[in-house]
Amino acid sequence: MDLASLKEKELTPNELEKLDMLCECRLSRMPVQYIIKEWDFRDITLKLVPPVFVPRPETEILVDFVLKRISSANLDSCKILEVGCGSGAISLALLHACNKIKALAIDTNIHACELTLENAKNLGLQSQLTVVHGTLLEDATIKVSADEKIPDLNKETFDFIVSNPPYVPTKEVFKLMPEIKLYEDVRALDGGNDGLKVIKPLLNYAANALKPGGRLFMEIDPAHSEYIQFFTAKYTNLNLKYEHTYKDFCNKDRFVEVLKLG
Ligand SMILES: C[S@@+](CC[C@H](N)C(=O)[O-])C[C@H]1O[C@@H](n2cnc3c(N)ncnc32)[C@H](O)[C@@H]1O
Repeated sequence: MDLASLKEKELTPNELEKLDMLCECRLSRMPVQYIIKEWDFRDITLKLVPPVFVPRPETEILVDFVLKRISSANLDSCKILEVGCGSGAISLALLHACNKIKALAIDTNIHACELTLENAKNLGLQSQLTVVHGTLLEDATIKVSADEKIPDLNKETFDFIVSNPPYVPTKEVFKLMPEIKLYEDVRALDGGNDGLKVIKPLLNYAANALKPGGRLFMEIDPAHSEYIQFFTAKYTNLNLKYEHTYKDFCNKDRFVEVLKLG
């Protein structure tokens, strides 16, 4: 309706200049989310700044699964860790939907941490979220940047751990669309040779950091579900039980749920 009425409107020279600039950006293959500087994720609007990862619609499904589990777990309060928060989409959507949650979100990219914090403030959710500049290392420990004053993340325990880690195998990264390759941080996408570079440490970290009955939810490449089932069956000492693989909008295996046994 609004667009129809705009048909009659003549643009001012300033508006034309702005429109030209926006078109230039898009012709340079800049994602529209970076051009308009914001994007909706479930029912929240997030500020977006390159090169912080643009949240994808399928990740909304991951949030739905976590919320369903929180609701069926009947907890009075719920402590969640998100590994690789990007713009804060997952943690902030969870906090927005459920006031029982306290979340701690880490990212290896300082710009992602700053953006998550800014988005938390814009949404009035900063009191429920701690953002930490930290990296999950190959040895399954979390290294936080020197200036962070928080409890030792290698001794903390959580009810849920959630992550949309980098999971694209390195050789596939170069085949991605220019919008992604040119503008998004490659660390958000590149999961190493087999795409499991962060997923393997996440499984090991979760084995220590989840409370008994706690759950790990991860977004994955469809090829990873089988590996995760193999991993949990082989390393029985970790007390992890593969629970389920869920499909995305395109019917591809995209999310896994793993339970920490008592
Ligand atoms: C695919 S993006 C997901 C961002 C956000 N959770 C979302 O779904 O929109 C992965 C994020 O993980 C971060 N990351 C990559 N490796 C990491 C690591 N080892 N430790 C912590 N964060 C990591 C990246 O910087 C990036 O922000």
